[in-house]
Amino acid sequence: YAHVTLEAGTILFEEEEPGAYAYLITRGRIEIFLRRDGAEIQLAVRGPGEIFGEMAILDSDPRSASARALDDCELVPVSEAQIRHRLSETDPILRLCLTVVMARYRETAALLRERGVVARGDPAAAPSPAARADFDAAITAVVLERELRRALDRQEFELFFQPIVRLGSEMLAGFEALIRWRHPERGLVAPAAFIPVAEESGLIVDITAWVVAEIGRVLPGIMRAGLRNVAAIEGSLFVSVNVSGHDLARASFPGMVCEMLRAAGIAPGSLKLEITESTLMRDPASATDALTLCRASGMGIAIDDFGTGYSSLSYLSTLPITTLKVDRAFVRAMLSEPRDHKIVQTILRLADEIGIPAVAEGIEEPAEARALAAMGCAYGQGYLFGRPAPLAETLDRIRS
Ligand code: C2E
Ligand code: CMP
Ligand code: CA
Ligand code: CA
Repeated sequence: YAHVTLEAGTILFEEEEPGAYAYLITRGRIEIFLRRDGAEIQLAVRGPGEIFGEMAILDSDPRSASARALDDCELVPVSEAQIRHRLSETDPILRLCLTVVMARYRETAALLRERGVVARGDPAAAPSPAARADFDAAITAVVLERELRRALDRQEFELFFQPIVRLGSEMLAGFEALIRWRHPERGLVAPAAFIPVAEESGLIVDITAWVVAEIGRVLPGIMRAGLRNVAAIEGSLFVSVNVSGHDLARASFPGMVCEMLRAAGIAPGSLKLEITESTLMRDPASATDALTLCRASGMGIAIDDFGTGYSSLSYLSTLPITTLKVDRAFVRAMLSEPRDHKIVQTILRLADEIGIPAVAEGIEEPAEARALAAMGCAYGQGYLFGRPAPLAETLDRIRS
């Protein structure tokens, strides 16, 4: 459904029309032409592995030429919004180069047309391996993005919950909510397969909105189950959710989360927002504003994958952080690599010095849990204590 099929001879668009889509060609040939003095002038023929109709999308000017299918064709449309978002995320120098190249191309083309000389494009030569790799990556991203939009409409996402326990007593302290995509054909899809494209395309904002709404739906049940089994639970349970820099860049984000908590009747202290260092670095000013508001209303703020980003430590002094999460990579290597052991020790000491608890991620072995507890790590998360599980299983676990 991400593909459009066209019969040979169909006109896709005409010169001077406004453009809404660029097209990736997966089958057939497309002719790019001008109509002048009752005749047609062919500018180029494009084939599989190529893109056309990109100019009007990049600079919002009208179509520079007309396009017609020469064969029965299969195309993947890329919307203006999809390209705009990626353009706004790209390096300003690259963006500047692109703008200037586009303007120069249009000027030259206009000049040639005035003089009656129209450059004749070569029929599509085989794209270079590098261009082919870019094309394949573009198709994958565009198709996946469309599927994700449809998955949101069709309610195909689901939250799993992974326990976080107090190290030492192993009492249940809370859960991390982790998204899954229940794909009708592919089964359960892990977030690593779609969160990166959701981030690139900006769709993550809609996904997070869904996650927040879903938390509002299920958290009251989790809290109630926790109250019925106080013996196995430390204080009242919390749930942490992963949020992206794109979410924090929206001025509406803190209000959306506060409204969810209010409507669900949940104390803000029961919710933690997990953010990675790289997410913070995207737009530190807006992230700081959003997190300061969320913290002021009582939510917890955890730094995820601590130590793996490329950031400085400065945000630890400026942001209202309440938890550090030690990345799985350090925990995994901790017992075999003295260096990783030292890094974990240093992170734990840092957390202790600034007076916030740490959560060690990816604990799989009892020896890891013992070593972390001995080093003063407050909380642990990992397959040793439980894998991420659906809501029903999670409620059973809380009650037993
Ligand atoms: P993360 O936030 O670092 O989440 C922890 C990941 O480690 C989870 O992978 C979890 O299943 C896995 N894990 C936990 N314990 C162990 C262990 O003992 N051993 C091993 N090998 N793995 C363990 P998952 O669920 O596949 O999520 C991957 C990443 O996707 C997350 O990493 C997070 O960055 C992102 N993600 C997940 N859900 C969401 C979401 O709702 N929104 C956003 N923006 N990102 C999400
Ligand atoms: P756009 O201006 O959106 O719509 C017409 C498309 O034709 C344009 O984007 C390019 O993709 C393509 N095009 C325009 N001029 C030429 C040319 N001289 N050679 C090859 N392709 C062209
Ligand atoms: Ca996380
Ligand atoms: Ca993590």
